[in-house]
Amino acid sequence: MSDSTVVHVIGTGTIGEPLIGLLVNMKDEIRIDEVTFHKRTPLTSDRSKVRSLIRRGAKLCVDSDKESEFRKLEMEPTYESLEALERATVVIDCTPSGVGRSNKKNFYQAYRHNTKGFIAQGSEFGFGKMYARGINDAALVPGEDQFIHIVSCNTHNLAVLIKNVGGVETDGDNFVEGRFLCIRRANDISQDGSFIPSPQVGKHDDEKFGTHHARDAYHLFKTIDIDLNLFSSAIKANTQYMHAIWFDIKVKHPVDLEKVIQRLREDESVAVTEKTSANLIFSFGRDHGYYGRLLNQTVVCLPTLHVRNGNEIVGFCFTPQDGNSLLSSVSAAEWFINPNEYKTRIQSLKPYFFDEI
Ligand SMILES: NC(=O)c1ccc[n+]([C@@H]2O[C@H](COP(=O)([O-])OP(=O)(O)OC[C@H]3O[C@@H](n4cnc5c(N)ncnc54)[C@H](OP(=O)(O)O)[C@@H]3O)[C@@H](O)[C@H]2O)c1
Repeated sequence: MSDSTVVHVIGTGTIGEPLIGLLVNMKDEIRIDEVTFHKRTPLTSDRSKVRSLIRRGAKLCVDSDKESEFRKLEMEPTYESLEALERATVVIDCTPSGVGRSNKKNFYQAYRHNTKGFIAQGSEFGFGKMYARGINDAALVPGEDQFIHIVSCNTHNLAVLIKNVGGVETDGDNFVEGRFLCIRRANDISQDGSFIPSPQVGKHDDEKFGTHHARDAYHLFKTIDIDLNLFSSAIKANTQYMHAIWFDIKVKHPVDLEKVIQRLREDESVAVTEKTSANLIFSFGRDHGYYGRLLNQTVVCLPTLHVRNGNEIVGFCFTPQDGNSLLSSVSAAEWFINPNEYKTRIQSLKPYFFDEI
């Protein structure tokens, strides 16, 4: 491990590219000395983003057998990939499904002795302790946890609803059950593939939880010893904008709309809105967010909130897709670097949290 504080990001895709940019732009505020990133494939079509990240101060790392090809394409590597792992204080893996877990087995285990921690993203179930900022910080054990799995963007959203609408944090006994329909965007605006011509419904692959969203939220709360009755379904919509979630949460104690809204407003990670389309919320993010991103965990749509029979809360909200995962990734990296100060250090990202949209 280098004497400096080095955060190394692996992957420059939908989540890796903005994360590298955010780390390098905020590095003084969050007290990181160096940001390095691994790019696997030398492509002229990716050259502009690689050069832009280098120009902003991040250092390119490539595999030894690809170095000459990157140079030929006029992308200048600073470190070889294994050297980058050797130097890293924290590694954030942003590769697609399954790669993070295999990287853990093939590489990260060998660098445990000199790296404070390894972080992987949504698809890497089983990589390490699940984490969403503001939900289960208490579960992280300094000196013990070295592998952290940032839950998916929609799982962040479910978790914050369970916490606030379900009142799990204030009254553990109050929550009865939660049902969720995740209405997912087909692809991201940064992606060309996976376009769908019409809404496409998803199967219930998990017998107990339906889809991975409820399963992951269940395991997230289990890290703080809370056992919940959850079920989710998913449907993909032919849009590139934000995911939306329909929720139905039953609680034991009588509740009214005013109380629900008050609890939501009290959580800094929640934004509320009178807007009813993903289009308008996405557009707000483009004008006021961090490079177009909202870092809130959820945007709850107030006109849709409804209390049925005094103990069932129904409504819709929108998921700031990569914003919540980016924030939890930075938070987890800062926790590895300095578990006593990480909450203060990430306050520099506060301008990108909104109370209202
Ligand atoms: N998309 C989102 O909005 C979003 C939100 C939250 C969480 N996540 C999670 O973030 C993770 C990454 O998703 P993504 O959408 O960002 O993926 P992506 O856009 O497909 O990007 C994947 C990146 O990983 C690199 N890569 C692939 N295989 C690799 C390997 N074997 N070794 C090194 N690098 C490799 C690719 O490099 P090359 O192109 O150079 O080959 C590419 O830069 C997933 O766990 C996903 O669940 C995604």
